[in-house]
Amino acid sequence: MAENKENERKTYYITTPIYYPSGNMHIGHSYTTVAADAEARYRRLKGYDVMFLTGTDEHGQKIQRKAAEKGVTPKEYVDEIVANTKELWKLMNVSNDQFIRTTDDFHVKAVQKIFKKLYDQGDIYKSEYEGWYCTPCESFWTETQLVDGKCPDCGRPVERTREESYFFRLSKYQQRLIDFIESHPDFIQPVSRKNEMLNNFLRPGLEDLCVSRTSFDWGIPVTFDEKHVVYVWVDALSNYITALGYGSDDDSRFKKYWPAQVHLVGKEIVRFHTIIWPALLMALDLPLPEQVYGHGWLLIDGGKMSKSKGNVVDPRILCAKYGCDAIRYFLLREVPFGSDGVFTNEALIGRINADLANDLGNLVSRTVSMQLKYFGGVQSADKVFADADNEIRGLFKEIYDNVQVQMDALQFPTALVEIWRGVSRLNKFIDETAPWVLAKTADTVKADKDRLAGVMYTLLEGIRAISVLIEPFMPETPAKIREQLGIAERPELTAWETAAQWGVYPDGTEVKKGEALFPRIDPQKELEELEKINALAKEKAGGSDKANCGTKTAENGEASAQQEEEGANLITIDDFAKVQMKVACVESAERLEGSDKLLILKLDAGGEKRQVVSGIAKQYSPEEMIGKKVILITNLQSAVLRGVTSEGMILAATKGKKLVLLTVDGDIPAGAKIS
Ligand code: MSP
Repeated sequence: MAENKENERKTYYITTPIYYPSGNMHIGHSYTTVAADAEARYRRLKGYDVMFLTGTDEHGQKIQRKAAEKGVTPKEYVDEIVANTKELWKLMNVSNDQFIRTTDDFHVKAVQKIFKKLYDQGDIYKSEYEGWYCTPCESFWTETQLVDGKCPDCGRPVERTREESYFFRLSKYQQRLIDFIESHPDFIQPVSRKNEMLNNFLRPGLEDLCVSRTSFDWGIPVTFDEKHVVYVWVDALSNYITALGYGSDDDSRFKKYWPAQVHLVGKEIVRFHTIIWPALLMALDLPLPEQVYGHGWLLIDGGKMSKSKGNVVDPRILCAKYGCDAIRYFLLREVPFGSDGVFTNEALIGRINADLANDLGNLVSRTVSMQLKYFGGVQSADKVFADADNEIRGLFKEIYDNVQVQMDALQFPTALVEIWRGVSRLNKFIDETAPWVLAKTADTVKADKDRLAGVMYTLLEGIRAISVLIEPFMPETPAKIREQLGIAERPELTAWETAAQWGVYPDGTEVKKGEALFPRIDPQKELEELEKINALAKEKAGGSDKANCGTKTAENGEASAQQEEEGANLITIDDFAKVQMKVACVESAERLEGSDKLLILKLDAGGEKRQVVSGIAKQYSPEEMIGKKVILITNLQSAVLRGVTSEGMILAATKGKKLVLLTVDGDIPAGAKIS
């Protein structure tokens, strides 16, 4: 009996991390998801049976605290945020096949089974935990792992913790992990991250991992010891298999899709996915995923994007303004995949205008207009091709092959570069063939008319192929292009493999004039508008240029004193410990153009260089500043003042108009800590 065709299709399982519920999802958050979506769409177009999973990571002390602050239950708190997250993915055309929540009943039960199994077989044991805990990162650290006594991941203060805990025997898997990673060169990508894992974590040795907590209860209860809840990573990482029914009565999807082809994650969580997760899978005697790909971060103002900085990076605003295809294109085109990249409004507008409005949008609108003008919109069967047409045909075959190579390797920007080679070539082809010149003699010279029809055909055929190739990246634009080409109702003409075929566009097809695919943006006007939204967002985030200004003046101090009187502003010693200060030496200073108050200072904080914009220009000349040892707050969020980034703040005392910089008494080097 012939095999069911469905069973013959290759499966492709791709995941994003499950997101911490956040009411402030910024454009950086959508990076992993949009990238995974492009890959999932590509694989579907190639005929794979795709399973694309995303979801939310909802347990932990942080959520419990936030819910308590709001006076709601943790579940109520996460429910609202999760609904917004789902809506955001819908808005951005994310085509996930499943959305898992770690509060889903099936997940809770499966995690309990996993925990029990590992306990029964001796991979989990009870002991006592004593060490340091970083609440924002939900991570435990040993003394030696701390950096300057702070969390090595986020640099924030940690709390001393001692409690009864269950531990996973991670150390037992150290050598097996090393062997696996060394014998599977594609397992951790990019390669630099693989080396980092081997050299920084695996080879120095693994410690057993704390996998339960008793100090809070918003988590999955350990069935055999109810005062414990499963602590974050065993709960979170297991989602990749529980989503498929592992540990449930029906594990048919698990059998079908596991092991995953790729876990796509941001670089900061590669360690959890390439050490803890494979060790857990080894303990469960399950196959390991084929690949963990750690992409870089989208940075803003020189740091990891954060909504509290109040920049216009709200994907909802950007999608509403420019269309979600433009935003997706920008995210996947701008930064080499795997590296960090900087998000700026200028770069976004630049790409929309250059690549989308000018290159692609104009190509389509010019071609359709010419076809309407010269042939009443209908493709003539009498057409003549020349060498250039054949070369373009060859080029598109090459592009198709290259795009696949790049997509197979998750190299989205380079895949887009390939596609835009086709866009550029067609634009150049219009200039070379000058159809408007051929059109002048087309009515009298049959050869010119036929050549003109050949030129139009090559353009339409190329645009058709482009509409296929961009589909993984831009889910909305292909349909708009096909509508204009007159092939909207002919899906067989735009199947993935037709991008490598030539001669698919049927003679006799009629084009239709449509709206501009990507209207050109007025950069000046748009940047101003984004700036305004920026300022509003900053205000909402509680920051302003003034508050973030490089120098702490008595003005702020007085405000604090007033609040203190009102009893609102007393801080604990722990609060004070959050402010990190160092002695810094001024290496250079210059006036900020257009401002009589601000100086741009380049500081040496003991090997670490910082730029600070400070409001001291009326009291100090740039020359006087050089060589001064000042007190720098090093962990202040950076701010942009009149277009210049300020990474920290230096301290000064003021009385009325008098302002004096705080400096250090005695011989102490730059970089010395202040406490
Ligand atoms: N809950 C964990 C993952 C558990 S997976 C078993 C988590 N969640 S997260 O919400 O903090 O991050 C989700 C994803 O968003 C990560 O891949 C992270 O790298 C990505 N990004 C968040 N901010 C980002 C940027 N500014 N730039 C690029 N990606 C970023 O980690």
